[in-house]
Amino acid sequence: MPVREEIAKLREQIRAHEYSYYVLDAPTVTDDEYDRLMRRLKELEAERPDLITPDSPTQRVGGMVAGGFEQVVHLAPLLSLSNVFSREDLTAFDARVRAGLPEDEQIEYVVEPKIDGLACSLVYENGLLVRAATRGDGTAGENVTSNIRTIKSIPLSLYQSAETPAVLDVRGEVYMPKKAFARLNAEREAAGEAEFANPRNAAAGSLRQLDPAVTAKRTLAFFAYAAGVGAKDKHADTLRFLTGMGFKVSQGYNTVDSIDKAADLVDSWAKRRNMLDFEIDGVVIKVNSVRQQAILGVTGKDPRWAVAYKFPAEEAETLLEDIILRVGRTGVVTPAAVLSPVRLAGSTVRRATLHNADFISQKDIMVGDYVIIHKAGDIIPEVVRSLPDKRPADARPFVMPEDCPECGTPIIRPEGEAAWRCPNPHCPALGREGLIHYVSRGAMDIEGVGEKVLFALLGAGLLRDPADLYALTKEEVANLERMGDKSAENMLAAIEMSKGRGLSRLLFALGIRQVGEKAAKTLARHFRSMDAFLAATEEEITSLPDMGPKIAESVVTWVSLPANLELVERLKAAGVLMTEEGPSVGDKFSGKTFVFTGTLEKLTRPEAEAMAEALGAKTSSSVSKKTSYVVAGKEAGGKLDKAQQLGVPVLSEEEFLLLAGE
Ligand code: IVH
Repeated sequence: MPVREEIAKLREQIRAHEYSYYVLDAPTVTDDEYDRLMRRLKELEAERPDLITPDSPTQRVGGMVAGGFEQVVHLAPLLSLSNVFSREDLTAFDARVRAGLPEDEQIEYVVEPKIDGLACSLVYENGLLVRAATRGDGTAGENVTSNIRTIKSIPLSLYQSAETPAVLDVRGEVYMPKKAFARLNAEREAAGEAEFANPRNAAAGSLRQLDPAVTAKRTLAFFAYAAGVGAKDKHADTLRFLTGMGFKVSQGYNTVDSIDKAADLVDSWAKRRNMLDFEIDGVVIKVNSVRQQAILGVTGKDPRWAVAYKFPAEEAETLLEDIILRVGRTGVVTPAAVLSPVRLAGSTVRRATLHNADFISQKDIMVGDYVIIHKAGDIIPEVVRSLPDKRPADARPFVMPEDCPECGTPIIRPEGEAAWRCPNPHCPALGREGLIHYVSRGAMDIEGVGEKVLFALLGAGLLRDPADLYALTKEEVANLERMGDKSAENMLAAIEMSKGRGLSRLLFALGIRQVGEKAAKTLARHFRSMDAFLAATEEEITSLPDMGPKIAESVVTWVSLPANLELVERLKAAGVLMTEEGPSVGDKFSGKTFVFTGTLEKLTRPEAEAMAEALGAKTSSSVSKKTSYVVAGKEAGGKLDKAQQLGVPVLSEEEFLLLAGE
């Protein structure tokens, strides 16, 4: 084959593989095969340098940027977005949109995830990437072309068609996937370098390197979300058009015909936020029609036709004032951070976990440090890292004490474990913490019986274990400090109500080691009654989904202890419900309808359908309003469009697997 042709063929193959790997997340060749093609192309290009073109896959990494990044003026300004924080704000946005348009106009919104990275504009002329710039002040930004070229999900040349415009200005977000961020920080920590505070800073720091070879080593990616020049009449069509030209476009965008449906999608993104491999800090809602966008116009830098619904931040910086120790219900002595109160993910945080003593020393955390804390959804806030650069002179290292802070027994650290434990089975912490767990929300959910009340009951000698709760009288409770008749009545009513929670909550509430909420549910839905559970064997338990030998061993040990059996008897005598209703194990998708479309990568379509059905779902081949989820693979077409029109949530194959495996 003539060299010229072989080169052209190699480039085409490599581009196709890069597209599959970086844009579709679905590799089509092994790394070895990819390297072989790349080596061959380099060889031929070395022989014939006259045939090298700027869009050859070998030309992603170029030379140093001398003298810093120059400023470039954008073809059209890069706008920013005004923020909203609630459903009411969204309704007000919708009202403003309606007021700005002629009466009775149909309005469609496109709902997209708001990726937390940095905005860039990529200019293509006649299909070739010629310039890339950061947002800057919106009018002009920094020319980062040489670094942008190293991002493999960005095409150096477009898949062209008759429709490809002579000039195309693609806007989107450069971001660092969560896994790449974790890896980069681990490497930096090992090398004694400062860690990045979050993926956004890591992406920005990586893009602003003067040596593109450094940027090339960082895993960055790009999601396209708009076209400044070269857009279609409908925003959703622009997104589809960008997909066709080889860009990675957030595959989760949906088109809806009401703000209520948009708000529902915001909720669904908020739920899925932690399952994604990239950070999103909200959801963007845009008017679909470009004609309507033009009528609505812009105020300052914000368009009137789009808003960002911002999720509450999940990370914050605060002062670590002290480290205290708490003995848990299994005797583990856990250090906790006492923090200067800070708003985070919708609540005020004053305490955060520090896991164990090793964590504190490995992360170089001292009392008096400024720290970054993280809280996602209902997850307990944790300290993720310290900021040694800001360390005050009087910061001091933490030293683990030798004795249990509750009972003074010397604490021990079992071989191979990170945790220190109080070995005293009568340590007062165990009973108290067990009770706190028993009444807690995911367990028996006894409202009005919080830590303070439990401490008072324990102090008054009215309580030793959960069964005692059901024997409390109104007089006993009303006599407690700051407890009137009315609150005593309410409390007893809440205790009474907890009797009917059912076996699954009860098993969780009993605090059997290894048995979390999910395991308790599986056990309850299999055994159905306490008596059957008490007779369980290790084999029977390990045969259940997601139940390993550790859980089985722990359960069998627990049911063999006379004290536990006695507790169960007393709970039963008090009238606590010992059975479980509800769907059987494996019915988590019951009542849901799935439609699979496009080419899946990890499963075949029948396998995916069988998996959904095994979990209780119905599957269907057509999308309607009743469809719960559409799972869209590669080259999904009409069904995906339909789902987006109807506002049916769309999952990628990966998200489906996560949901199924949960
Ligand atoms: S649209 C008028 N769509 O959010 C259109 N922006 O707060 C302006 N962002 O500067 C941008 N994901 O960096 C749009 N799907 C998305 C986005 C998105 C992230 C960023 C973008 C922008 C900022 C505005």
